[in-house]
Amino acid sequence: MLHNSERRAEINELVSGLRLPQKMISPKYFYDEEGSRLFEQICDLPEYYLTRSEISIMQSNMAEIAEAVGPRVSVIEYGIGSGLKTCILLENLQQPVAFIPIDISAEHLAESARVLAGQFPEIEILPVAADFTRTVSIPCPARSPARNLVYFPGSTIGNFGPEAALDLLRVMHEEAGPEGLLLIGADLQKDHEIIEKAYNDQAGITAAFNLNVLSHLNREYGFDFELEAFEHFAVYQQDSGRIEMQLISLREQRVTLGKDVFYLAKGEKIITEHCHKFSLAGFRELAENAGFRHQQTWLDSKNWFSVQLYRR
Ligand code: AVI
Repeated sequence: MLHNSERRAEINELVSGLRLPQKMISPKYFYDEEGSRLFEQICDLPEYYLTRSEISIMQSNMAEIAEAVGPRVSVIEYGIGSGLKTCILLENLQQPVAFIPIDISAEHLAESARVLAGQFPEIEILPVAADFTRTVSIPCPARSPARNLVYFPGSTIGNFGPEAALDLLRVMHEEAGPEGLLLIGADLQKDHEIIEKAYNDQAGITAAFNLNVLSHLNREYGFDFELEAFEHFAVYQQDSGRIEMQLISLREQRVTLGKDVFYLAKGEKIITEHCHKFSLAGFRELAENAGFRHQQTWLDSKNWFSVQLYRR
């Protein structure tokens, strides 16, 4: 449940995004209940190689990852933390002391914490309902850990622009604490056709996911977007090394929120997300600029995705 002030801040953010010369909606509005359900379906799509590649890296290299991380860590996951990757990590680390998932959705978090507590009774589960892009106060586990391991899988870092990604990595550097570690999943640059297919799947699930942001804005904030008047489009922009997710207006139209009116020309796009793809050197430079020192990188058999370990 959002407080009034948070809701007002979100409405301001949405209205200013739609008033920009290039209209934008932040990707954080994708994830209502339906959006989260569609995202889970995306992760299983044949074209969406990211999740499968990252899981294969974790499965093939977990002994080495656990060895590099060391015993008795407290795992701080940025995001909901109920997925298969989290389970692989918690099952294989050496006597992890605690698991601290941080996510904005309190209900989702409580449910995933309940499931994990059943699966890992020996690990203290300490969920934190907060916006992880801000510095969060991390709870102290009952048993004191040897160090913290910040875990940020899924290449979610790619959904932040270069400056925001640097800011977030700096927050993680701070949160990691003395001797702290960062284990992070980053999607890599590759043939643009492979990347574009991953965001334009044949079954149309990514299209439904993209359009669902408009239903979310209608229901939650009172906009009157007509979903049939928009079309999903995702294009790889070689220069910036990123996918741009767009909603294209199929006709000239106006959208309203109370007294605010937004005009869209036929063919005009609203940008809903950027998904950056990294070079190994580029990602390492980004993490080093945030203060981290590179330890090790693991890749899948096609060199499409990376899981990287950094130390403070
Ligand atoms: C959450 N994030 C890492 C996904 C991505 O690939 O950037 C979100 C997504 N958007 C469309 N498909 C998946």
